[in-house]
Amino acid sequence: VYPVDILEDDREGLQAAALAYYASLGEGAGSSSELFSLPTGEQVKLQTSSVRFCPVHRDEPQHKILVLVSPQDTKTVVAVYLKDTWWSTEDILRTSDLTREGLVEVRSFGERIVLFILNVIIFGRLERSLDDEGMFFLPHSAKEQAKILWRNGAAVGFYSTKMKGSLCGSGTSACYLLPVFDTVFVRRTHRCQGLGIAMLRDFCDSFREEEALGVSRPISPAMYQVLRSFLSACPAERDRLWEVEAPGAWDQRANIWLQLCLQEARHADSATHPGDSKEDTSSPGQMWPDGGPAQFDQGESRKEQIPGEKLENEEKDQGCEERQEE
Ligand SMILES: CC(C)(COP(=O)(O)OP(=O)(O)OC[C@H]1O[C@@H](n2cnc3c(N)ncnc32)[C@H](O)[C@@H]1OP(=O)(O)O)[C@@H](O)C(=O)NCCC(=O)NCCS
Repeated sequence: VYPVDILEDDREGLQAAALAYYASLGEGAGSSSELFSLPTGEQVKLQTSSVRFCPVHRDEPQHKILVLVSPQDTKTVVAVYLKDTWWSTEDILRTSDLTREGLVEVRSFGERIVLFILNVIIFGRLERSLDDEGMFFLPHSAKEQAKILWRNGAAVGFYSTKMKGSLCGSGTSACYLLPVFDTVFVRRTHRCQGLGIAMLRDFCDSFREEEALGVSRPISPAMYQVLRSFLSACPAERDRLWEVEAPGAWDQRANIWLQLCLQEARHADSATHPGDSKEDTSSPGQMWPDGGPAQFDQGESRKEQIPGEKLENEEKDQGCEERQEE
């Protein structure tokens, strides 16, 4: 049995138990010989200097979980204290419930913790690389609409949605004018197996009655490939999908299929006129009618980019074919 299968929605109770445990660690300061064994075989000493209280949600800093950090990198969480015991992050992502399979909406606190670990720890610290162009997502808010992708007893990805009519952020009265596919992630070992497309399709299927659907900016190069593949196979969606800035007014939308076609035309053009070099990026680039969205930072999309950041895991984007050979 894993935490997601047994955790009740008792955030205060969990936090109180974690605080009591933390206090007990402090009492035994220096003398504690308790160790936590990671799945890698490495052992981490359980002491106050190696644990932290960490907020799960962006908008509720008061709700925290107790985490154990790696001695080598104190920003990397290796275990979480829940139900009077330490669980490795990989165990937090597991389930013993066989019915938890495919895309499942996040509802319980246990599922919120899974979302947090996948987003902030797995993507944000361990599996981010150059192909994501330094992109990471901020922690989701406590009521964020999200689905976790479960596969063979483990959480392997997620996506989140901004609902039409929901507030764009805490400091604004602007509301999203269309449903927006906001954050999406698939674990490295599960990539290039159609899961990104499956999540995009699920999003489109969830809003059949809507004429327009958004994908929030910025879109990573890998996600453009997912969109290209999806829209090539589903012509009916080409008029519906827009790259958007919040709240998604008409002058904040760019049609994704049109951008992909223009990018291809640019490729063909630079192939026939090789000397006439235009900047060629793997994402289509901006196609805003007025040269740029008017209210770039009004929305509270979870996506952030670190300009020019040197990442720890600098594995170059290999694309799907090469990665599958690994
Ligand atoms: C983007 C992401 C979700 C794609 O997930 P995925 O499960 O690997 O995607 P799929 O397997 O459904 O791929 C769909 C298509 O895109 C192509 N593709 C996906 N990633 C690619 C990459 N890095 N390079 C080249 N092509 C890629 C696949 O080859 C496939 O093409 P095909 O249908 O012709 O075979 C995943 O790479 C990821 O989590 N990246 C980090 C987070 C991120 O960038 N999120 C998007 C923010 S906008």
